[in-house]
Amino acid sequence: MGSPQITENPTIAVDEDEENGISAECKELIHGCRKEKGWRTSFLYEFQGFWCQPKEIDAILSFQKHYLARDSDVILATIPKSGTTWIKSLTFAIMNRNNVPVSDGNHPLLASNPHDLVPFFEYKLYANNQNPNLSILPKPRIFATHIPFGSLSESIKSSDCRIVYVCRNPLDTFISSWHYINQLRRESRPPIPLEEAFDMYCKGVIGYGPFWEHMLGYWKESQERPNKVLFMKYEDMKEDAMSHVKMLANFLGLPFSVEEEKQGLIEEIVKLCSFKKLKDLEVNQNGKSIKNFDNKHLFRKGEVGDWVNYLSPSMAHQLSKIMDEKLGDFGLKFK
Ligand code: A3P
Repeated sequence: MGSPQITENPTIAVDEDEENGISAECKELIHGCRKEKGWRTSFLYEFQGFWCQPKEIDAILSFQKHYLARDSDVILATIPKSGTTWIKSLTFAIMNRNNVPVSDGNHPLLASNPHDLVPFFEYKLYANNQNPNLSILPKPRIFATHIPFGSLSESIKSSDCRIVYVCRNPLDTFISSWHYINQLRRESRPPIPLEEAFDMYCKGVIGYGPFWEHMLGYWKESQERPNKVLFMKYEDMKEDAMSHVKMLANFLGLPFSVEEEKQGLIEEIVKLCSFKKLKDLEVNQNGKSIKNFDNKHLFRKGEVGDWVNYLSPSMAHQLSKIMDEKLGDFGLKFK
């Protein structure tokens, strides 16, 4: 498959731009991959069994070659729009509570977007840098990724580092993704009609998807190695954030002391990282912490079940059936 030519067609021109600056290795690789129309970019490529954009693939290749996990590292994994920003803020607050008191008026979460405090491998650390020096980062090192479990670097799998996976009901994840992508497309391209995006999602064609493969990879590992992978659901976290913060701290090897619990520290963390608190902060109303992504779009409604306002009964039935078929046998269900 050759590179598309630049023509009057704006979609093709965007595609040329999307390949600008990527390595020769990545260019050659993607030209041998199956491709489908993308949500934000012209195309998504099927790379190592999941759908991804050229620049992300390039960064993932570097990450796979160079990242060396330490046993003390923590990796937060999600498929986009499943609660990444939330789990980043909670984990950061829990793990740094002895360095920065949660009640401190200068807490980093009040002045920085969670994506600046917990960097993505593929959007930040390995984007435009083949081998960043991560040994200079202070401990505890907390990283994030959307990469499926099967494509994580070998050093993650063989080390004792911990992985926290958050997943969300696909009906809501789809709606959240659709809103988000349309915000991003606003400047350059028309919105994707809901029905078109829905068809792509049901076929599994979404960044890092199919969603069912993404979830099952981490789900199976969490069942086999519960000390290695903690599997959490957005809906459960919304229902009872306190017990999830406690569970997260235990998993991270930093349980709350009786004294901390008495002082109400868990509740303070939940409040500091709540949707409303983070959304209203100046730093989250402005700026871009991930290239091309406005911080303000990271906080939309933060509710469970918003899909009912968008999906027709037949769409909901179709997606629920896919969820049942793909996930039901593995015991993965959503409220
Ligand atoms: P909605 O679009 O349904 O509102 P991600 O962080 O993975 O990009 O996920 C984004 C979704 O999480 C959005 O959902 C967003 O509003 C919601 N969200 C962001 N911060 C949150 C928080 N602190 N608590 C709960 N939900 C949050």
